[in-house]
Amino acid sequence: MAPKLSHLLLAILVIFSIQTFKSRARTLKPEHQQSFSSFLQKLEGVQKGQAAEGLLDLKKYLKKFGYYPSDATLTSSDFDDHLELALKAYQKFYRLNVTGNLDSSTTQQMMIPRCGVPDIVNPPPSTEPTSTESKHKKFHMVAHYDFGSNKWPPSKYALTYSFGPGLQVFDLNTLRSVCADAFQKWAQVTSFTFTEATDGASADIVIAFYSGDHEDGDPFDGPGKILAHGFFPQDGRLHYDADENWSTDPAMDQTDLESVSVHEIGHLLGLYHSNDRESIMYPSLQIGTKKRDLTQDDIDGIHALYPN
Ligand SMILES: *[C@@H]1O[C@H](CO)[C@@H](O)[C@H](O)[C@H]1NC(C)=O
Ligand SMILES: *[C@@H]1O[C@H](CO)[C@@H](O)[C@H](O)[C@H]1NC(C)=O
Ligand SMILES: [Zn+2]
Ligand SMILES: [Zn+2]
Repeated sequence: MAPKLSHLLLAILVIFSIQTFKSRARTLKPEHQQSFSSFLQKLEGVQKGQAAEGLLDLKKYLKKFGYYPSDATLTSSDFDDHLELALKAYQKFYRLNVTGNLDSSTTQQMMIPRCGVPDIVNPPPSTEPTSTESKHKKFHMVAHYDFGSNKWPPSKYALTYSFGPGLQVFDLNTLRSVCADAFQKWAQVTSFTFTEATDGASADIVIAFYSGDHEDGDPFDGPGKILAHGFFPQDGRLHYDADENWSTDPAMDQTDLESVSVHEIGHLLGLYHSNDRESIMYPSLQIGTKKRDLTQDDIDGIHALYPN
């Protein structure tokens, strides 16, 4: 009996210290960001057929961004055929070598902070023949930009916005001025106008900063990894992750508020992600960089969605 009891105590002690470590990791923010990079670094080079701790989290990451069939259930930490297919689809979108391997260019790409909106919106279920899917994807690869069926009707081209409740990361005047500039980028090339709603009036677009779970089914994740998300029409919610090191003029370890705003407004209007690396609608943004101006790809995309 005695050895068993000591084993039990040891197990409890291990569980307890893991829990303590987990909650510490959650409160120490810079470590959180580092841990995602080192998590990916540890997975680099893991081969098909092998199992590795962390592969399940990698699968969840890929599923979140649309690289698994909609009905996929992820349970194992094995590098299986499904993971290989998901990696190939990811590599194709990001125009990396389509190896199906966890090579360093793939893990490096995943380390760049990005938008929380999926790259492949509404992926088909696994029963759908893949040949049709890949043909469909190839068609979009030529155009770069992409969008779905959700858009604002012409009666809603004069949109209003407001700054909702949530965390205060910037003073209101700074936020106002950055958002006004970001809206202006899209107003210049479309029939949309964007006006701040007068006090108390309900607005089409509501902008706010949140930390972690904020009860819209898409929790934020601390510094790095996911920066913000915007909902497709006619929802109008634009949320920033309050745990990023935001700036209106970023240093090398900061994230540019205006660049992210211009991108998220693209989603509010109905655009999906573009795989054109230079475009505003490209999913990821390197820390410390500014990307504030629409490219021809973004303009072509919004004109295709709202032809005049
Ligand atoms: C793809 O593979 C080629 C040949 O191995 C290599 O030269 C190139 O740098 C790779 N590209 C990327 C994006 O990793
Ligand atoms: C945010 O960026 C500033 C400016 O580079 C830096 O001094 C500060 O340490 C950063 N804060 C965090 C939490 O990374
Ligand atoms: Zn996005
Ligand atoms: Zn949200």
